[in-house]
Amino acid sequence: MSELKLPRHIAIIMDGNGRWAKQRLLPRTAGHKVGLDTFVDISDACIEMGIEYLTVYAFSSENWNRSSDEVGALMELMSKGITKYEPELVKRNVKLKLLGDIDRFEPKYRNALLGVQERLSKNDGMTLCICLSYGGRQELVHAFNELIKEGKTEITAEDVERHLYSAGVPDPDLVIRTSGEYRISNFLLWQSAYAEYYFADVYWPDFNKDELIKAIESYNKRERRYGR
Ligand code: IPE
Ligand code: IPE
Ligand code: MG
Repeated sequence: MSELKLPRHIAIIMDGNGRWAKQRLLPRTAGHKVGLDTFVDISDACIEMGIEYLTVYAFSSENWNRSSDEVGALMELMSKGITKYEPELVKRNVKLKLLGDIDRFEPKYRNALLGVQERLSKNDGMTLCICLSYGGRQELVHAFNELIKEGKTEITAEDVERHLYSAGVPDPDLVIRTSGEYRISNFLLWQSAYAEYYFADVYWPDFNKDELIKAIESYNKRERRYGR
């Protein structure tokens, strides 16, 4: 492990909670609950390893199309989960960045989440980005609209980057997706242009530090060429 080259920024599509629960004849929300614990474990592991940036995909723009029961349960779990994790994040000097259209959240959840983000804003340890109500296309459209508001008639890549939700965060080096699906589902479309992908067969609730190390080992075998 010691000789492993660490990716500066790891991004994770935390997928498979529903199928994990179904396998056990449990409701989907039971999978989301365990998935939240996995998120905390993996975030802790990244902090301990010295990862500089961790981004997790928690709720997509398209996930609003799920049943209102599931969406409600997810909102509740995420806002309570992050609130409960806050003291640990404070202790570990973690900075939190919420990426996505947070305005779509009910005020009580939105305010709880924004409060945690605000209280951690002066920290300068690992940056934890949580994608909530996030879609890569929506993020780009949002950026283009901001540039229209600035009166721009011609734009550069740097202009777009300034208005991404992730502005200031370097591009991900390693993107991991769990659950055996081989797609990106609208995640970090702009930022992942040169990311290395790793697909894990396990459902997210079964992902753990050993799996994370396997992904980093695989990343270490890649030769990144950037078109050169
Ligand atoms: C990932 O698990 C969590 C969210 C998308 C909120 P899923 O809920 O997508 O679980 P599967 O993919 O249906 O198993
Ligand atoms: C991607 O998973 C979004 C999150 C993990 C939050 P989905 O389960 O929503 O993606 P699809 O439907 O399999 O493409
Ligand atoms: Mg899924």
